[in-house]
Amino acid sequence: MTNNIPETQEGFKFPALIEPLDLLARFSWSWAPLLCRSQHGCQEYHRCWSLVRLIKKEGALPAGLEFFKHHLTDLVDQGRTRVLISGAADTGLLALVCTIFSIVNAKPEILLMDRCRTTLIQNRILAEYLGLEIETIEGDIRKVDIEPVDAIIAHSFLTFFVKADRQDVINAWASILNPGGKILMSANIATSEAVKSPAISDSRIQKAKQELIIAAAALGMNDSESQALGKIAAHNWQKKWAYDPYLTVENLNSAFSLAGISLDEVTLKENEHLGPFAQFKNVSKKIQRGEIAGTRLA
Ligand SMILES: C[S@@+](CC[C@H](N)C(=O)[O-])C[C@H]1O[C@@H](n2cnc3c(N)ncnc32)[C@H](O)[C@@H]1O
Repeated sequence: MTNNIPETQEGFKFPALIEPLDLLARFSWSWAPLLCRSQHGCQEYHRCWSLVRLIKKEGALPAGLEFFKHHLTDLVDQGRTRVLISGAADTGLLALVCTIFSIVNAKPEILLMDRCRTTLIQNRILAEYLGLEIETIEGDIRKVDIEPVDAIIAHSFLTFFVKADRQDVINAWASILNPGGKILMSANIATSEAVKSPAISDSRIQKAKQELIIAAAALGMNDSESQALGKIAAHNWQKKWAYDPYLTVENLNSAFSLAGISLDEVTLKENEHLGPFAQFKNVSKKIQRGEIAGTRLA
C-alpha cells in the first residue's frame, strides 16, 4: 500500500506527512483482532478505521486543525503544554496535535488515554517514529487519575456515551484540569434533544462498500482482505455512532457548569462530516459538527 497524502488541508501542505498511515493502518488491521477486548465491541472499527481514513478520506487528519491550533497556541503562550488526548480511534488525533505543536514550534507533553490496547499501541508506534515521548494510559476515562493537565482534547468522544455517563466523563475531565485549563472538543451537536440520527439507505452503503473494495485492491490488499474490509466497513456505516439524545448547546452547557467548566465557545460548522464512518451522517442541518471550548474555573 502507498500513502496518498493530500496536497492541502485547511491551508497547510504538510500535516499528513508526519503520519505513515499506510503502515499504521496495516498494524491495526492485523492486530485489532488480537488486542481489542470483546467486551468493548471495538474490534471492527479499530481494525479498519485507519484504512478507511486512508482510502476514503485520503489520510485526512481529524477535522478542526485551525480551532485546536488557535487554543493550543494560547496555552503554549502561557507556558502550558501538558495535554491529554481523551479517546483516539487511531493515530489521527496524535498526528493532529503533533502537527500543531510543530507549527507553533513548541514541545508538548502528551498523555493519551483510551480503554483499548489497539489504539494505544498504534499511537506508541507513531510516537516512537516521531521521536516523541508520550504517556499512554489504558482504562476508563471516568476513572482517570493523573497529575493535572492544561488541556483535554476529545474528538467525537462524548457522543459515544449515554447522557448520564457524559456527566461522569465531564466530571472526570474537570477533576484533572488545572484551573484555567481547557476542554477542546470536536463533536456533533444537534439543534434539540428530539433530533434523531438520519437513516442511511442500504443502497448508499452497498455503493460505498464496493468503492472501498476496489480502492483497497488498488492499494495492494488481496481479494479476501479487501472483501473483508468492505464487509466490516459496511457494518460500521450501518452502526449508530451517537447515543440519543444528542449533545445540544443547552445540555452541554449545563453538564459543563455542573462540573465547574465554563462553556466559552461553540462554533457550528455547516456541511461537514466527522470521521471515516460519519460520511453519510451529517446530511441533516439539525446535526452539525461543533468546535467546543470550555475553561476550568478556579
Ligand atoms: C469513536 S472513537 C473517537 C474517534 C475520534 N474521532 C478519533 O478520530 O480518534 C472512540 C474511542 O473512545 C474509546 N473509548 C470508548 N469508551 C471509553 C471509555 N469509557 N474510556 C476510555 N476510552 C473509551 C474507544 O476505545 C475509541 O478508541
